[in-house]
Amino acid sequence: MIGSQSKKLESVIGFILAKGDAVRFDQYMREHLYGEEGYFSKRAEIGSGDFGTESFRPAFAHLIFLNLQQQGLDGRDFLELGGGPGVFIRNYLAHSPETDYISADISKKFALMQAQTNGNAIASDAAALGLQSNSIEGCIFSNELIDNLPCRVFRITRNDDGVGINEEGYVGTDGAGLYFKFGVAERDEFLETYGEFLNQGIYPVADGDIISIAPKAVDVIKESLRVLKSGKIMFIDYGFGDALYCGRRSEELPYIVRRPNYDDSRDIAKILASPYDTDITYSVDFEFLRWVVGQIDPDAKVNYQHQVSLVEAFPQDQDPKLERKLHDHYDLTRFLVLSIDK
Ligand SMILES: C[S@@+](CC[C@H](N)C(=O)[O-])C[C@H]1O[C@@H](n2cnc3c(N)ncnc32)[C@H](O)[C@@H]1O
Repeated sequence: MIGSQSKKLESVIGFILAKGDAVRFDQYMREHLYGEEGYFSKRAEIGSGDFGTESFRPAFAHLIFLNLQQQGLDGRDFLELGGGPGVFIRNYLAHSPETDYISADISKKFALMQAQTNGNAIASDAAALGLQSNSIEGCIFSNELIDNLPCRVFRITRNDDGVGINEEGYVGTDGAGLYFKFGVAERDEFLETYGEFLNQGIYPVADGDIISIAPKAVDVIKESLRVLKSGKIMFIDYGFGDALYCGRRSEELPYIVRRPNYDDSRDIAKILASPYDTDITYSVDFEFLRWVVGQIDPDAKVNYQHQVSLVEAFPQDQDPKLERKLHDHYDLTRFLVLSIDK
Protein backbone atom coordinates (compact mmCIF):
# COMPACT_ATOMS: atom_id res chain seq x y z
CA MET A 1 0.00 0.00 0.00
CA ILE A 2 1.46 3.39 -0.94
CA GLY A 3 1.90 6.11 1.70
CA SER A 4 -1.10 8.29 0.86
CA GLN A 5 -3.45 5.29 0.76
CA SER A 6 -2.35 4.07 4.17
CA LYS A 7 -2.83 7.59 5.56
CA LYS A 8 -6.37 7.64 4.21
CA LEU A 9 -7.09 4.20 5.55
CA GLU A 10 -5.76 5.26 8.94
CA SER A 11 -7.92 8.35 8.83
CA VAL A 12 -11.12 6.42 8.09
CA ILE A 13 -10.31 3.76 10.67
CA GLY A 14 -9.82 6.59 13.19
CA PHE A 15 -13.17 8.07 12.18
CA ILE A 16 -14.98 4.77 12.75
CA LEU A 17 -13.20 3.96 16.01
CA ALA A 18 -14.15 7.39 17.38
CA LYS A 19 -17.78 6.35 16.97
CA GLY A 20 -17.53 2.73 18.12
CA ASP A 21 -16.49 -0.20 15.98
CA ALA A 22 -18.88 0.40 13.05
CA VAL A 23 -20.79 3.29 11.46
CA ARG A 24 -23.87 3.38 9.27
CA PHE A 25 -22.98 3.23 5.59
CA ASP A 26 -24.17 6.81 4.97
CA GLN A 27 -21.88 8.11 7.72
CA TYR A 28 -18.99 6.26 6.15
CA MET A 29 -19.91 7.64 2.73
CA ARG A 30 -20.11 11.21 4.05
CA GLU A 31 -16.68 10.89 5.62
CA HIS A 32 -15.34 9.24 2.49
CA LEU A 33 -16.57 12.10 0.29
CA TYR A 34 -16.36 15.17 2.53
CA GLY A 35 -14.18 14.23 5.51
CA GLU A 36 -10.80 15.87 6.05
CA GLU A 37 -9.08 13.42 3.70
CA GLY A 38 -12.24 13.01 1.64
CA TYR A 39 -12.58 12.48 -2.08
CA PHE A 40 -14.01 15.95 -2.71
CA SER A 41 -12.26 17.82 0.08
CA LYS A 42 -8.82 16.71 -1.04
CA ARG A 43 -9.12 16.06 -4.71
CA ALA A 44 -11.81 18.31 -6.10
CA GLU A 45 -10.67 17.38 -9.56
CA ILE A 46 -13.91 16.81 -11.43
CA GLY A 47 -13.36 17.03 -15.15
CA SER A 48 -9.60 17.18 -15.06
CA GLY A 49 -8.96 13.53 -15.64
CA ASP A 50 -11.14 12.42 -12.73
CA PHE A 51 -14.73 12.25 -13.87
CA GLY A 52 -16.34 14.54 -16.36
CA THR A 53 -20.04 15.35 -16.29
CA GLU A 54 -22.43 17.01 -18.69
CA SER A 55 -21.78 20.28 -16.86
CA PHE A 56 -18.52 20.52 -18.72
CA ARG A 57 -20.20 20.67 -22.12
CA PRO A 58 -21.26 24.15 -23.22
CA ALA A 59 -24.16 22.54 -25.14
CA PHE A 60 -25.63 21.24 -21.87
CA ALA A 61 -25.80 24.71 -20.28
CA HIS A 62 -27.29 25.94 -23.55
CA LEU A 63 -30.05 23.31 -23.34
CA ILE A 64 -30.86 24.20 -19.74
CA PHE A 65 -31.01 27.86 -20.75
CA LEU A 66 -33.29 27.11 -23.73
CA ASN A 67 -35.64 25.05 -21.56
CA LEU A 68 -35.91 27.85 -19.02
CA GLN A 69 -36.31 30.43 -21.77
CA GLN A 70 -39.30 28.51 -23.15
CA GLN A 71 -40.91 28.83 -19.74
CA GLY A 72 -40.07 32.50 -19.35
CA LEU A 73 -37.61 31.77 -16.55
CA ASP A 74 -34.40 32.91 -18.25
CA GLY A 75 -32.68 35.94 -16.78
CA ARG A 76 -34.31 35.34 -13.40
CA ASP A 77 -32.66 34.00 -10.24
CA PHE A 78 -30.66 30.82 -10.71
CA LEU A 79 -29.57 28.84 -7.66
CA GLU A 80 -27.23 25.97 -8.44
CA LEU A 81 -26.72 23.26 -5.83
CA GLY A 82 -23.50 21.25 -5.88
CA GLY A 83 -21.94 23.07 -8.81
CA GLY A 84 -18.53 21.39 -8.49
CA PRO A 85 -15.64 23.38 -9.93
CA GLY A 86 -17.93 26.00 -11.47
CA VAL A 87 -17.75 25.22 -15.18
CA PHE A 88 -21.52 25.11 -15.58
CA ILE A 89 -21.84 28.61 -14.09
CA ARG A 90 -19.50 29.99 -16.73
CA ASN A 91 -21.24 28.11 -19.54
CA TYR A 92 -24.69 29.17 -18.35
CA LEU A 93 -23.85 32.83 -17.82
CA ALA A 94 -22.47 32.97 -21.37
CA HIS A 95 -26.11 32.57 -22.50
CA SER A 96 -27.72 34.58 -19.78
CA PRO A 97 -25.29 37.18 -18.36
CA GLU A 98 -28.11 39.11 -16.65
CA THR A 99 -29.00 36.13 -14.43
CA ASP A 100 -28.70 36.58 -10.68
CA TYR A 101 -26.65 33.42 -10.08
CA ILE A 102 -26.04 31.90 -6.66
CA SER A 103 -24.18 28.64 -6.20
CA ALA A 104 -24.05 26.55 -3.06
CA ASP A 105 -21.67 23.67 -2.48
CA ILE A 106 -20.81 21.67 0.60
CA SER A 107 -17.17 21.53 -0.45
CA LYS A 108 -15.32 24.68 0.58
CA LYS A 109 -12.81 23.98 -2.15
CA PHE A 110 -15.52 23.89 -4.82
CA ALA A 111 -17.32 26.93 -3.37
CA LEU A 112 -14.08 28.87 -3.74
CA MET A 113 -13.68 27.73 -7.33
CA GLN A 114 -17.30 28.73 -8.03
CA ALA A 115 -16.72 32.14 -6.46
CA GLN A 116 -13.86 32.74 -8.87
CA THR A 117 -16.25 32.31 -11.76
CA ASN A 118 -19.16 34.24 -10.42
CA GLY A 119 -18.50 35.67 -6.98
CA ASN A 120 -21.85 34.72 -5.58
CA ALA A 121 -21.05 31.33 -4.09
CA ILE A 122 -21.84 29.96 -0.65
CA ALA A 123 -20.19 27.04 1.08
CA SER A 124 -23.20 25.28 2.49
CA ASP A 125 -25.14 22.07 2.62
CA ALA A 126 -27.95 22.05 0.05
CA ALA A 127 -30.17 20.71 2.81
CA ALA A 128 -29.58 23.81 4.98
CA LEU A 129 -28.92 26.72 2.66
CA GLY A 130 -29.17 29.62 5.04
CA LEU A 131 -31.24 31.53 2.48
CA GLN A 132 -34.52 33.20 3.33
CA SER A 133 -37.78 31.42 2.59
CA ASN A 134 -39.31 32.37 -0.77
CA SER A 135 -36.17 34.28 -1.75
CA ILE A 136 -35.64 32.66 -5.16
CA GLU A 137 -37.79 33.45 -8.17
CA GLY A 138 -36.57 31.51 -11.17
CA CYS A 139 -34.77 28.19 -11.05
CA ILE A 140 -33.07 25.89 -8.57
CA PHE A 141 -30.83 23.52 -10.47
CA SER A 142 -28.48 20.65 -9.79
CA ASN A 143 -26.59 18.20 -11.94
CA GLU A 144 -25.39 15.02 -10.27
CA LEU A 145 -25.92 16.27 -6.74
CA ILE A 146 -28.51 13.76 -5.52
CA ASP A 147 -26.42 10.74 -6.46
CA ASN A 148 -23.66 12.21 -4.36
CA LEU A 149 -25.64 12.36 -1.16
CA PRO A 150 -24.65 9.76 1.41
CA CYS A 151 -26.94 6.77 1.19
CA ARG A 152 -28.14 4.15 3.58
CA VAL A 153 -28.15 0.53 2.45
CA PHE A 154 -31.20 -1.48 3.48
CA ARG A 155 -31.91 -5.18 3.25
CA ILE A 156 -35.62 -5.69 2.78
CA THR A 157 -37.92 -8.34 4.15
CA ARG A 158 -41.15 -9.19 2.46
CA ASN A 159 -43.92 -11.31 3.85
CA ASP A 160 -47.72 -11.37 3.87
CA ASP A 161 -47.80 -8.19 5.98
CA GLY A 162 -45.88 -6.24 3.34
CA VAL A 163 -42.41 -4.81 3.02
CA GLY A 164 -40.26 -4.28 6.11
CA ILE A 165 -36.84 -2.76 6.72
CA ASN A 166 -35.09 -4.52 9.55
CA GLU A 167 -31.48 -4.60 8.49
CA GLU A 168 -29.06 -2.03 7.18
CA GLY A 169 -25.44 -1.79 6.12
CA TYR A 170 -22.60 -0.68 8.38
CA VAL A 171 -18.90 -0.23 7.79
CA GLY A 172 -16.79 -1.61 10.59
CA THR A 173 -13.12 -1.91 11.42
CA ASP A 174 -10.92 -4.28 13.35
CA GLY A 175 -8.35 -1.52 13.70
CA ALA A 176 -6.35 -2.67 10.67
CA GLY A 177 -8.87 -2.80 7.81
CA LEU A 178 -12.52 -2.16 6.96
CA TYR A 179 -15.45 -4.48 6.39
CA PHE A 180 -19.10 -4.20 5.43
CA LYS A 181 -21.81 -5.93 7.44
CA PHE A 182 -25.55 -5.88 7.90
CA GLY A 183 -26.92 -5.06 11.35
CA VAL A 184 -30.17 -3.92 12.90
CA ALA A 185 -31.65 -0.97 10.97
CA GLU A 186 -31.80 2.29 12.89
CA ARG A 187 -35.47 3.19 13.16
CA ASP A 188 -35.96 6.89 12.58
CA GLU A 189 -38.27 9.21 10.68
CA PHE A 190 -36.55 8.53 7.37
CA LEU A 191 -36.87 4.78 7.75
CA GLU A 192 -40.60 5.18 8.46
CA THR A 193 -41.00 7.42 5.39
CA TYR A 194 -39.09 5.06 3.15
CA GLY A 195 -40.96 2.03 4.47
CA GLU A 196 -44.22 3.80 3.70
CA PHE A 197 -43.03 4.48 0.16
CA LEU A 198 -41.97 0.88 -0.46
CA ASN A 199 -45.34 -0.30 0.77
CA GLN A 200 -47.07 1.71 -1.95
CA GLY A 201 -46.15 -1.23 -4.18
CA ILE A 202 -44.69 0.93 -6.93
CA TYR A 203 -41.78 -1.44 -7.39
CA PRO A 204 -41.86 -5.21 -7.14
CA VAL A 205 -39.64 -5.57 -4.08
CA ALA A 206 -38.60 -9.09 -3.15
CA ASP A 207 -37.56 -10.56 0.18
CA GLY A 208 -33.80 -10.09 0.60
CA ASP A 209 -33.49 -7.17 -1.86
CA ILE A 210 -30.76 -4.70 -1.07
CA ILE A 211 -31.56 -1.06 -1.72
CA SER A 212 -29.53 2.10 -1.29
CA ILE A 213 -31.25 5.41 -0.75
CA ALA A 214 -30.12 8.88 0.40
CA PRO A 215 -32.09 10.35 3.33
CA LYS A 216 -30.67 13.78 2.58
CA ALA A 217 -32.45 13.85 -0.78
CA VAL A 218 -35.65 14.46 1.18
CA ASP A 219 -34.05 17.36 3.06
CA VAL A 220 -32.68 18.91 -0.14
CA ILE A 221 -36.14 18.81 -1.73
CA LYS A 222 -37.73 20.32 1.40
CA GLU A 223 -35.12 23.07 1.50
CA SER A 224 -35.51 23.85 -2.20
CA LEU A 225 -39.28 24.08 -1.88
CA ARG A 226 -38.80 26.40 1.10
CA VAL A 227 -36.54 28.90 -0.67
CA LEU A 228 -38.28 28.83 -4.06
CA LYS A 229 -41.03 31.41 -4.26
CA SER A 230 -41.96 30.66 -7.86
CA GLY A 231 -40.42 29.00 -10.86
CA LYS A 232 -38.83 25.62 -11.32
CA ILE A 233 -36.68 23.08 -9.54
CA MET A 234 -34.65 20.92 -11.90
CA PHE A 235 -32.56 18.06 -10.54
CA ILE A 236 -30.68 15.95 -13.07
CA ASP A 237 -29.12 12.65 -12.18
CA TYR A 238 -28.36 9.14 -13.25
CA GLY A 239 -31.23 7.03 -12.05
CA PHE A 240 -34.37 5.03 -12.59
CA GLY A 241 -38.10 5.48 -12.32
CA ASP A 242 -41.09 3.31 -12.80
CA ALA A 243 -42.95 5.78 -15.00
CA LEU A 244 -40.17 5.55 -17.59
CA TYR A 245 -40.08 1.77 -17.58
CA CYS A 246 -36.59 1.73 -16.20
CA GLY A 247 -37.37 0.11 -12.91
CA ARG A 248 -35.42 -0.89 -9.91
CA ARG A 249 -33.04 -3.81 -10.07
CA SER A 250 -33.22 -6.07 -7.09
CA GLU A 251 -29.77 -5.09 -5.92
CA GLU A 252 -29.08 -1.38 -5.80
CA LEU A 253 -25.93 -1.14 -3.77
CA PRO A 254 -24.01 2.08 -4.34
CA TYR A 255 -22.14 2.19 -7.59
CA ILE A 256 -18.45 2.29 -7.17
CA VAL A 257 -16.30 3.89 -9.78
CA ARG A 258 -12.55 3.49 -9.54
CA ARG A 259 -10.26 5.65 -11.57
CA PRO A 260 -8.26 5.79 -13.74
CA ASN A 261 -9.21 2.45 -15.28
CA TYR A 262 -13.00 2.99 -15.15
CA ASP A 263 -13.55 -0.16 -13.21
CA ASP A 264 -17.27 0.27 -12.50
CA SER A 265 -18.62 -2.22 -10.06
CA ARG A 266 -21.00 -2.50 -7.16
CA ASP A 267 -18.61 -4.44 -5.02
CA ILE A 268 -18.51 -2.82 -1.60
CA ALA A 269 -15.31 -4.67 -0.76
CA LYS A 270 -13.63 -2.60 -3.45
CA ILE A 271 -14.48 0.73 -1.86
CA LEU A 272 -13.34 -0.50 1.47
CA ALA A 273 -10.07 -1.76 0.03
CA SER A 274 -9.31 1.75 -1.16
CA PRO A 275 -11.09 4.25 1.03
CA TYR A 276 -11.24 7.73 -0.51
CA ASP A 277 -9.76 6.71 -3.85
CA THR A 278 -13.06 5.56 -5.26
CA ASP A 279 -16.08 7.59 -6.25
CA ILE A 280 -19.05 6.12 -4.41
CA THR A 281 -22.22 7.07 -6.08
CA TYR A 282 -25.55 5.44 -6.67
CA SER A 283 -28.52 5.39 -8.92
CA VAL A 284 -31.24 7.85 -7.91
CA ASP A 285 -34.82 6.64 -7.39
CA PHE A 286 -36.89 9.29 -9.18
CA GLU A 287 -40.16 7.65 -8.27
CA PHE A 288 -39.26 8.12 -4.62
CA LEU A 289 -38.32 11.77 -5.21
CA ARG A 290 -41.62 12.39 -6.94
CA TRP A 291 -43.56 10.76 -4.11
CA VAL A 292 -41.63 12.82 -1.55
CA VAL A 293 -42.49 16.09 -3.33
CA GLY A 294 -46.17 15.11 -3.24
CA GLN A 295 -45.93 14.47 0.50
CA ILE A 296 -44.24 17.82 1.20
CA ASP A 297 -46.25 20.03 -1.13
CA PRO A 298 -49.34 18.44 -2.67
CA ASP A 299 -49.82 21.57 -4.82
CA ALA A 300 -46.42 21.41 -6.51
CA LYS A 301 -46.45 20.10 -10.08
CA VAL A 302 -43.87 17.36 -10.20
CA ASN A 303 -42.67 15.02 -12.88
CA TYR A 304 -39.56 13.39 -14.25
CA GLN A 305 -38.38 12.68 -17.76
CA HIS A 306 -35.38 11.37 -19.63
CA GLN A 307 -32.67 13.97 -20.08
CA VAL A 308 -33.05 13.56 -23.84
CA SER A 309 -36.34 15.48 -23.52
CA LEU A 310 -34.28 18.65 -22.96
CA VAL A 311 -33.23 18.54 -26.60
CA GLU A 312 -36.81 19.28 -27.65
CA ALA A 313 -36.20 22.92 -26.71
CA PHE A 314 -33.54 23.20 -29.41
CA PRO A 315 -34.58 25.93 -31.88
CA GLN A 316 -35.29 24.73 -35.41
CA ASP A 317 -32.75 27.09 -36.97
CA GLN A 318 -29.84 25.71 -34.97
CA ASP A 319 -27.32 23.29 -36.43
CA PRO A 320 -29.33 20.06 -36.99
CA LYS A 321 -26.13 18.00 -36.74
CA LEU A 322 -25.54 19.27 -33.22
CA GLU A 323 -29.13 18.51 -32.28
CA ARG A 324 -28.83 14.97 -33.66
CA LYS A 325 -25.55 14.47 -31.84
CA LEU A 326 -26.99 15.63 -28.53
CA HIS A 327 -30.10 13.55 -29.04
CA ASP A 328 -28.12 10.39 -29.74
CA HIS A 329 -25.78 11.10 -26.86
CA TYR A 330 -28.53 11.62 -24.29
CA ASP A 331 -30.61 8.78 -25.64
CA LEU A 332 -27.95 6.33 -24.56
CA THR A 333 -27.90 7.37 -20.94
CA ARG A 334 -30.17 6.87 -17.99
CA PHE A 335 -29.96 10.48 -16.88
CA LEU A 336 -33.34 11.74 -15.76
CA VAL A 337 -34.64 15.21 -14.95
CA LEU A 338 -36.89 15.83 -11.94
CA SER A 339 -38.96 18.98 -12.57
CA ILE A 340 -41.01 20.69 -9.92
CA ASP A 341 -43.05 23.72 -10.95
CA LYS A 342 -44.21 26.13 -8.33
C1 LIG B 1 -20.79 14.68 -8.58
S1 LIG B 1 -20.38 16.31 -8.22
C2 LIG B 1 -21.23 17.18 -9.51
C3 LIG B 1 -20.65 18.54 -9.78
C4 LIG B 1 -21.31 19.33 -10.91
N1 LIG B 1 -22.69 19.64 -10.61
C5 LIG B 1 -21.23 18.61 -12.21
O1 LIG B 1 -22.26 18.29 -12.79
O2 LIG B 1 -20.10 18.40 -12.67
C6 LIG B 1 -21.39 16.62 -6.79
C7 LIG B 1 -21.26 17.99 -6.26
O3 LIG B 1 -22.23 18.15 -5.22
C8 LIG B 1 -21.60 18.71 -4.10
N2 LIG B 1 -22.36 18.26 -2.93
C9 LIG B 1 -22.47 17.03 -2.44
N3 LIG B 1 -23.26 16.98 -1.38
C10 LIG B 1 -23.71 18.23 -1.19
C11 LIG B 1 -24.58 18.83 -0.26
N4 LIG B 1 -25.17 18.12 0.70
N5 LIG B 1 -24.82 20.15 -0.38
C12 LIG B 1 -24.23 20.89 -1.36
N6 LIG B 1 -23.38 20.37 -2.25
C13 LIG B 1 -23.12 19.06 -2.18
C14 LIG B 1 -20.18 18.21 -4.18
O4 LIG B 1 -19.26 18.96 -3.43
C15 LIG B 1 -19.91 18.31 -5.67
O5 LIG B 1 -19.57 19.61 -6.04
